[in-house]
Amino acid sequence: MAILTLPGLIDPHVHLRDPGATHKEDFYSGTAAALAGGFTCVLDMPNNTPPITDAAALAAKQRAASEKAVCDYGIHFGASADNTEIAASLAPQVTGLKMYLDQTFGPLRLDSLQSLVSHMAQYPRDVPILCHAEGRTIPAAIFVAQLFDRPVHICHVSRQDEIELIRAAKDKGVRVTCEVAPHHLFLTEEDCEKIGAGKCQVRPMLGTRADVAALRANLNVIDCFATDHAPHTLFEKESAQPPGYPGLETALALYLELARENILTLDEVIARCYENPRQIFNVPVQNETWIEVDADAEWIARGANMFTRAQWTPFEGRALRGKVTRVVLRGETVFENGRAFAQPGSGKNIRPF
Ligand code: DOR
Ligand code: ZN
Ligand code: ZN
Repeated sequence: MAILTLPGLIDPHVHLRDPGATHKEDFYSGTAAALAGGFTCVLDMPNNTPPITDAAALAAKQRAASEKAVCDYGIHFGASADNTEIAASLAPQVTGLKMYLDQTFGPLRLDSLQSLVSHMAQYPRDVPILCHAEGRTIPAAIFVAQLFDRPVHICHVSRQDEIELIRAAKDKGVRVTCEVAPHHLFLTEEDCEKIGAGKCQVRPMLGTRADVAALRANLNVIDCFATDHAPHTLFEKESAQPPGYPGLETALALYLELARENILTLDEVIARCYENPRQIFNVPVQNETWIEVDADAEWIARGANMFTRAQWTPFEGRALRGKVTRVVLRGETVFENGRAFAQPGSGKNIRPF
C-alpha cells in the first residue's frame, strides 16, 4: 500500500453558499468536504445571496466562516457595475476580485465594457482578478488586463479554442494564468445522457471529446486545478436545474488518474493543486500541515456518502483510485479514515483583518 504524504491542497475556486443558501452547503459542510478531499485551504466565490459586493456582505461571510470553517479559507470579492472603489479598498481582506463576464448561477454579472475597464484599471495589482469568461469574453478580459499592466486569471477553461488562445497569449509573454476543473478533463457532453439533463447543467457546459483532448494536450499551460465545487441539492438539479457540480471529494483521485495515465508526473499534479495556486493567490504557508493519501485505495464515488450537503456527484458510480486517509492541519489531525474531527471555527481566514 503506497501512502503518499503530500502538502495540504489548495482549491482556488469553491462556492460554499454561506450565507444565503446554507441548505446547499455551509462553511462547516463545505470545509469538511474539503478536508475529506485533501484540501486544507479553499478560496470561496462571491455569488451568494446577497452577493459579496459590499463591506456588509463581506463582513457577514467573514463571520459565518470564522464560526464554522474547519479548513483554512480565503474569500474572493465580487465585481459589480458600481463597486469599483469599494472593491479596491477592501482588497487587503480578500484573495481576489471575481468578475462574471458571462451568465452563470445568480445575478452577479458584469455586462458593460466600462465596468470591466474601471475594475481592471483601479484594482490593486498585487491582488488577483479572476474572470468567469467563456469564448469571446476571454480575449476581452486578457486584453483589458494587459492594457492596464496587470495579471488576470481565467477560471475553468473548457474549450479547445480557449486553451489555444491562452497558450498563444502566454507565448507572447502576456501575464495570464488559468485553471481547469476536473469535470472538464474527465467528462464530455456525451456523459449527460447518463448523468441526467438537469444534473448535467454546469457553466461552462461540458465540452466535446476534442475539447477534453485539447485540455489534456495543453496541461503545460494550465496553472491550476480548481474544482469549481458548486453544490445544489438533487431536488434543485432535477427541478429548476441550476448549473454546478460538487467536486471537492472526487477531485484528488481524478488528478492522480492523470499521473497514472502518464499525462503528468506527480510533481506536476502537485504544482497545479498546491504550488501554483499558492503563488498566484498569495496563500501563506500552513505550518505542520500535510495530507496522507492511500494512492492504491479503490473506491466508488457515491454522493450519499459525501460530506457535501449536495449529496450527489456527476461521477456517481465511477471507480476511483486514491483516498485521503489523514489530514494534519497545524499539527492537529483534523480528518482520519472518513471522519472529520476539527472544531467548527478552527479553520483560519488567510487574510486576517
Ligand atoms: O456551473 C456553475 N455553477 N458555474 C458557475 O460559474 C457558478 C456555479 C454556481 O455558483 O453554482
Ligand atoms: Zn464560473
Ligand atoms: Zn464557480
